[in-house]
Amino acid sequence: MNLLHIDSSALGQNSVTRELSAAIVSQWTSTLDGVQVEYRDLDREPLPHLTGGSLAKADPAEAADAERTLQQFLDADVVVIGAPMYNFAIPSTLKAWIDRVAVAGRTFRYTEAGPEGLAGGKKVVIASGRGGLHSGAPSDFQEPYLRQVFAFLGIEDVEFVRAEGVAYSPQHRSDAIAAAKAAIPALVAPLRKAA
Ligand SMILES: Cc1cc2nc3c(=O)[nH]c(=O)nc-3n(C[C@H](O)[C@H](O)[C@H](O)COP(=O)(O)O)c2cc1C
Repeated sequence: MNLLHIDSSALGQNSVTRELSAAIVSQWTSTLDGVQVEYRDLDREPLPHLTGGSLAKADPAEAADAERTLQQFLDADVVVIGAPMYNFAIPSTLKAWIDRVAVAGRTFRYTEAGPEGLAGGKKVVIASGRGGLHSGAPSDFQEPYLRQVFAFLGIEDVEFVRAEGVAYSPQHRSDAIAAAKAAIPALVAPLRKAA
């Protein structure tokens, strides 16, 4: 099984979503045999913003990295993404990655009947962290956006491991992280039974 692990937090060692995404990946690798992990840290190794030059493949190095990124996504059975809420949405580094994996003809296409996702069959697990409380609120442009992007690509199996309200107090933060970590084993258990 191929597992693609993506992090996007700018907060390094102090990141909630890095801690959670690592715990999710570790749950997979410690309970299932034969998990091949590929990792990309979008903070340390960002993809450039998509420009006209990108679409024209003007820079061969950029085009090669974009193709590698897309292929890595296509090859993954499971994608684990550390996705903080930044300014009510996602970090621009993660948006830049999405711009490279949402590619017409490769991961979706338009037909006379409407859009069709071409990247189905994967599981996506998103480690979500937010300073405030946004679940179900109109301020949440992070989780609904991510769900929409992956649904558009044909991926309906999207789960969130969420630590919310982490900026309220140190106690809120540690309680939210502990609750999020407690939810992780249940995500991996069904796959272990299927293996
Ligand atoms: C640049 C930046 C923007 C943020 N914007 C928001 C926001 O709009 N709403 C919110 O609830 N928290 C916001 N936060 C708090 C983060 O969502 C919170 O710290 C979360 O833990 C981030 O995940 P991370 O620790 O993995 O980076 C922001 C934090 C940063 C650094």
